[in-house]
Amino acid sequence: MSANPTKYQLGHSDEEMKRLEYQAGVFRPLTERLLRAAGLRPGMRVLDVGCGVGDVSFLIAELVGPSGEVVGIDGAALPLEWARRRAREQGLSQVRFEHHDLASLPRERPFDAVVERLVLVHQGEPLRFIHQMGEHLRPGGVLVCHEFDFTQQPVAYPPMPLLEQVSDWLTRAVRGMALRAQLGRELAALLREAGLQVEGGQSAGVLGVDGEEDADSLRVFSAGIRALLPAIERLGITRAEDVGIDTLEQRLRDEARAANGLFVPFTMIGVWARRPAST
Ligand SMILES: C[S@@+](CC[C@H](N)C(=O)[O-])C[C@H]1O[C@@H](n2cnc3c(N)ncnc32)[C@H](O)[C@@H]1O
Repeated sequence: MSANPTKYQLGHSDEEMKRLEYQAGVFRPLTERLLRAAGLRPGMRVLDVGCGVGDVSFLIAELVGPSGEVVGIDGAALPLEWARRRAREQGLSQVRFEHHDLASLPRERPFDAVVERLVLVHQGEPLRFIHQMGEHLRPGGVLVCHEFDFTQQPVAYPPMPLLEQVSDWLTRAVRGMALRAQLGRELAALLREAGLQVEGGQSAGVLGVDGEEDADSLRVFSAGIRALLPAIERLGITRAEDVGIDTLEQRLRDEARAANGLFVPFTMIGVWARRPAST
């Protein structure tokens, strides 16, 4: 392991692995659209940094096809066990998972594309991390980053006060944990600062119109609060009794049903940028 150890404040319990797997299903259409727009296509060789339980790697594997190659790396061993098992179950031969912190990943054959989702937010020095990702790109290769903007309020009409309250706790917890709360909106500036040529980006949320049928994003939202609850309490943001975590998801669903409008609990921002052909 390197001197720049893997940063992941939410740990690697089985419960956290399940949460990542479930939320990945909800984010999948957003990430797929981003990766297609960034130009991922059959035959490419792609690195997935901080692959966790493997969902982004599996998505990339579909886009690059059997003639392509995907390497998913993670600095933690447990998510990789999950990822390898899931790859075997899906019979995906173009994906392999390796235990590396990005900083200690050997620079061998460069990649056509490097992708990260929800990893940069955990890094103390995002610019340095972007530089490190860029070092694994061939000249002309593309870097894709997909992150939240935790400072963006949920969209809801009629208003959903509980959803707004929970979003406020989330934003304050993320800030209190010294994570970069508005990273999503900073992406283009950071990628340019790292010397990359920004080509495009997308901003998207998951819109619901019904508290039952469209409750996936609300479940992701309340699972995120569950994962952050220790930090929420430690930072004095609110008390566990006020969060009522075991009933939170149902109360959010009830609120959505009663509001009878539409809601978008969170927004993700993705940006892609190219390594200049001459470097
Ligand atoms: C929130 S999870 C995201 C997983 C996956 N990218 C997704 O979107 O489903 C963040 C993952 O990044 C890994 N990670 C964080 N810093 C890392 C680093 N410096 N090198 C490799 N992996 C890292 C963590 O171990 C964790 O599994």
